[in-house]
Amino acid sequence: MPSATTGPRRIALIGADGQLGTDLLKTLAGESVTALYYPDFDITRSDPTRARLASINPEVVINTAAFHRVDECEDNPEQALAVNALAVRNLARMCRDLGASLVHFSTDYVFDGRKGRPYVEEDAPQPLMVYGVSKLAGEYLVRNTLERHFLIRTCGLYGEAGCKEKGGHFVDMILRREEQGLPLRVVGDQRVTPTSTVELARGVAELIRTEHFGLYHMTNEGECSWYEFAREAFDLIGKKPRIEAVDSSAYGSKARRPLYSVLENKKAKAVGLHPFSHWKDALRDYLRRKGYSVRD
Ligand SMILES: NC(=O)c1ccc[n+]([C@@H]2O[C@H](COP(=O)([O-])OP(=O)(O)OC[C@H]3O[C@@H](n4cnc5c(N)ncnc54)[C@H](OP(=O)(O)O)[C@@H]3O)[C@@H](O)[C@H]2O)c1
Repeated sequence: MPSATTGPRRIALIGADGQLGTDLLKTLAGESVTALYYPDFDITRSDPTRARLASINPEVVINTAAFHRVDECEDNPEQALAVNALAVRNLARMCRDLGASLVHFSTDYVFDGRKGRPYVEEDAPQPLMVYGVSKLAGEYLVRNTLERHFLIRTCGLYGEAGCKEKGGHFVDMILRREEQGLPLRVVGDQRVTPTSTVELARGVAELIRTEHFGLYHMTNEGECSWYEFAREAFDLIGKKPRIEAVDSSAYGSKARRPLYSVLENKKAKAVGLHPFSHWKDALRDYLRRKGYSVRD
């Protein structure tokens, strides 16, 4: 593991009760972390944000906040840009003034999917929807403002805390529907790499011990459609419900999504970070942690 610093550091963690924030808080237990919670701490309110960060005087700021209800972003581009881009620029400026580094998260949805093979950090983004545009704007504003940044693109997050904004996450939603006897219709034509927040949090904790700033792809390994992901979850817990694979066009979603948005962790591997596990292994671990009896 590459290591540039030792000893606990002062870290400000924004969105500490979110899906990823919850696992970051646990993983960073050895550091001196100030957990910041919405709406008390709202990154779109620039003056209070600056005052609070100045009082913490962090060495690292980790921002997990986002407006990421993808379809709603189509109707609310102002809010998407306010949270995902302009507030992020302000954070980058505050970090610059405080001499802190900034960890910020972006998305596989900055790509249009036409490559059809895993995307590396050097590939040109081409978002198809407002959410992706706003996240890409956030990326550019961070890069343009602050040298000491870690920009981390990830994909299909799931973790024990779930995502309040989206009413949970895919795995819990699909298991719950089966338990309730509801029909299971799952998109079969979008290929992704679902990623465990436990593993992402570990990767972040390792990365911020280094001075290897820049843009990173960080996901579990391998790829699948959402349909295959659902199938595997049920296989692991020994159930065989009927699942219908549907095309994303059948959902009539407002936002267009890429049909292929698998990310290759090229840079994370190049700097020697501990490898991420295959998505099937990460899913097995998750289901075990949730208390399911899972086959090996
Ligand atoms: N979830 C995914 O599948 C996925 C995929 C790719 C990339 N990402 C990116 O990964 C990051 C983390 O995602 P996540 O799933 O952990 O999201 P999450 O569960 O929604 O967590 C975000 C946290 O930030 C808080 N927050 C929202 N608006 C805020 C604001 N204006 N100021 C301060 N805090 C605010 C939320 O509070 P409330 O919960 O009270 O609103 C929540 O605690 C985001 O940048 C997201 O774009 C996520």
